[in-house]
Amino acid sequence: MAEFFLPKNSKIKKGKAHAAAETAARPKKFKVYRYDPDSGENPRYDTYELDLEQTGPMVLDALIKIKSEQDPTLTFRRSCREGICGSCSMNMNGKNGLACTTSIEDLKGEVRITPLPHMDVVKDLVPDFTHFYAQYASIEPWLKTATPTPSGKERLQSPEDRAKLDGLYECILCACCSTSCPSYWWNADKFLGPAILLQAYRFIADSRDEMTGERLDQLEDPFRLYRCHTIMNCANVCPKGLNPAKAIAEIKKLEMERAV
Ligand code: SF4
Ligand code: F3S
Ligand code: FES
Repeated sequence: MAEFFLPKNSKIKKGKAHAAAETAARPKKFKVYRYDPDSGENPRYDTYELDLEQTGPMVLDALIKIKSEQDPTLTFRRSCREGICGSCSMNMNGKNGLACTTSIEDLKGEVRITPLPHMDVVKDLVPDFTHFYAQYASIEPWLKTATPTPSGKERLQSPEDRAKLDGLYECILCACCSTSCPSYWWNADKFLGPAILLQAYRFIADSRDEMTGERLDQLEDPFRLYRCHTIMNCANVCPKGLNPAKAIAEIKKLEMERAV
């Protein structure tokens, strides 16, 4: 019989849970990081077992099923459940990704789920995004202009200029890239990290923005920009298929061009 662990504080009766495990046609274990700062206890892992015949296909489906049927104290973020909001980012079997777009079938063996690495943890799988969002605000992520709008109404953009934003505007700020970057792990206080630098380049590359020089001034810093050492983890994990390393290289190129 498969071993079945329940969290200490689960309201599910053990006998009932064992019965569910015994009848599981396709059992799968999920080892989930648990941390409750109010308990005063150290973090731990709890292991849950689900029958994949009775579970939706994605990791988020598993977490929702565990929370609904086994342990209502399990805490995680989610909203859209289709890769749009970026709120369900977490680490699954060692790789950052979105729980709602990560197929359970693609994860071999017991599935180990932890919060995004190197971020403070609020509770269980919920990381603290305060610093990440402060870094995002620091790059002033909105169009900035000095001249009046030519038409008096709106700033037009050619299809070619609009196309320059492809590969940038799709970022959902999930932080999978930044929290997979060793440079960001060690220097998150000063290095902006791949997600924020991709966002910075999104406004530098926008033909309607008139503050390119000021934006480049703000980024020209041994830590904010140049702590990227082309490790490329960022591009490997982005669940939207974006390439923050390329955006960072474009910023470095512009910094170099204006220096000569
Ligand atoms: Fe997430 Fe990709 Fe944006 Fe990084 S670049 S925050 S991984 S969507
Ligand atoms: Fe980090 Fe990506 Fe640069 S992983 S070091 S930001 S290429
Ligand atoms: Fe929105 Fe996963 S729930 S991206």
